[in-house]
Amino acid sequence: MCGIVGYTGKDDAVSVLTSGLKRLEYRGYDSSGIAVNNENKITMVKASGEINNLVEKLGEKTIVGCAGIGHTRWATHGAPTDINAHPHLSNSGRFAIVHNGIIENYIELKEELAGKGFNFESETDTEVVVHLLEYYYEGDVRKALMKTVSRLEGSYALGVVCSEFPKSVFAAKLGSPLIIGVGVGENFFASDVTALISKTKNIIYIEDGEFAEITPDEIDVFDCTGKSVKKSVSRVVWDIEAAEKGGYEHFMLKEIMEQPKALKSTIEPNIKDNKIHFEGLEPLGEKIKDINKIIITACGSAYHAGYVGKFVIEELCRISVEVDLASELRYRNPIIDEKTLVVVISQSGETADTIAAMKECKERGATVLSVVNVVGSTIAKLSDYVIYTWAGPEIAVATSKGYTTQLAVMNMLALWLGDHLNKIEETEYNELIEAIRSIPERAQRSLDLNAQMADFVKNYSHYDSVFYIGRNIDYAICMEGSLKLKEISYVHSEAYAAGELKHGTIALVDENSLVVAPCCQESLFDKMMSNIKEVKARGANVLAVALENNHKIYEEADNVISIPETHPMFVSVAEIIPLQLFSYYIAKEKGCNIDKPKNLAKSVTVE
Ligand code: M6R
Repeated sequence: MCGIVGYTGKDDAVSVLTSGLKRLEYRGYDSSGIAVNNENKITMVKASGEINNLVEKLGEKTIVGCAGIGHTRWATHGAPTDINAHPHLSNSGRFAIVHNGIIENYIELKEELAGKGFNFESETDTEVVVHLLEYYYEGDVRKALMKTVSRLEGSYALGVVCSEFPKSVFAAKLGSPLIIGVGVGENFFASDVTALISKTKNIIYIEDGEFAEITPDEIDVFDCTGKSVKKSVSRVVWDIEAAEKGGYEHFMLKEIMEQPKALKSTIEPNIKDNKIHFEGLEPLGEKIKDINKIIITACGSAYHAGYVGKFVIEELCRISVEVDLASELRYRNPIIDEKTLVVVISQSGETADTIAAMKECKERGATVLSVVNVVGSTIAKLSDYVIYTWAGPEIAVATSKGYTTQLAVMNMLALWLGDHLNKIEETEYNELIEAIRSIPERAQRSLDLNAQMADFVKNYSHYDSVFYIGRNIDYAICMEGSLKLKEISYVHSEAYAAGELKHGTIALVDENSLVVAPCCQESLFDKMMSNIKEVKARGANVLAVALENNHKIYEEADNVISIPETHPMFVSVAEIIPLQLFSYYIAKEKGCNIDKPKNLAKSVTVE
């Protein structure tokens, strides 16, 4: 969703801002714009559609200036038009602002400001902010900004320029992501590290309720009373190459292929002396004996990873695990107390629904453990404990390595919890830890299928309805396989627990249906064979995913994707990879915009 970037230094602000915005494209957007401060005058250019439209418009003008702000907008309030695009300018032209988040009380504020004579141009919630700034301005931008945000309800990451301070850019944060990049003779802010990685690896993470005034040589972070806050500078561990395509046609394929490396980086540092050891989780290891219920909450693919987590944790720990969509959990009256462990899963660490659900759980006394990919993200900061997935930056909207590293953590967490609850015998533990260690290698072997997948999918690209059926972990994999297909190829698909089909949905199955059937749970194989027979009897074409030594599956399935032999409990990673590739090549066959599917955003920072 919306991305913001700010710059002040010695270079041409237009080119720094537009290249930063290009790196934020992956977040999803439908218009963009920049405002540059030059010799006490702000020049603003905005364009709907792709950033190239903005670049074209910019090419028609000469904009000189070394400080400015930029924005990619994912429309919420008002259509994706030039006028609704950010930045927004105050009536006097003194201030320009960019905003990520939602101002919930904008209607009242708009009425109030209109009553005071302010003129509104756009349909956005954001425009009230720039007029409030103007209203409160008495020569001190910091004071005006503090007064302005004290009037706002909702969430924001704000970037501000004021014509009277041509070297300064200002920022404020509450509930939406914002980081500061520290350079030499130049400084930056942005929604995330990807926008800045080509310029600096030195980052200051600012907290909710904090503000910043940034000049080329100074960064002053201050609180709502105006008092400076001491901040430390963190170093980003990944390189620019991680945020580039590196010869692949799409980020998604690159990220699919990076999975063995990402899995290794996520698994290995957490194994010491043949035991799972999560740094910083020792107090939870003690507390866990008092926990009587685990709730896993997340959205989208992260929720699907949580579903796999439920199966493995319940199996190994014999503790009840509920998996809740974060967007649902926050609007019911969940039974959560001090004896509940809430596991929050999020690649970005910024998903608005997940953050809200997590806050709700904390208020009810739960202990919160998060599984997050982005260091310093809101979810990581708000949790009692964090386990990082070390997938590196994920640019494609459809997650792949973000998801499989979450699966790896779910598997490790199950083992860690089972060990702390004394539920696992030593021999079994040793066998399971070996199985976890082998996940990256098994992932690599599943990826070997890539060579034939482009041709293989040609048999399937004509289907416009696909059912994914499975049981237990295989069912959780169906949910993710189905989501992958629909989000990037726009083919309608649904995931069903295989035994559930006959309770209604089988009415839709006929000779025009493709049924994808992962069958990697040996103990449930016979049941799956019966379900496959049921759909075949209605004329469906069945594509199974099975372990390589399973020959029986060929008796019923029309075609089989074989994956390497793996411990059934930890098969999820090896099992989803061919389905990621399947979706990728179907989408490619259909000519879809794979990295940036329509209507979707990478990081869903609004409700
Ligand atoms: O950043 P998060 O893991 O919190 O994101 C949650 C979902 O929005 C995300 O997994 C989404 O479903 C993926 N884009 C699907 O590929």
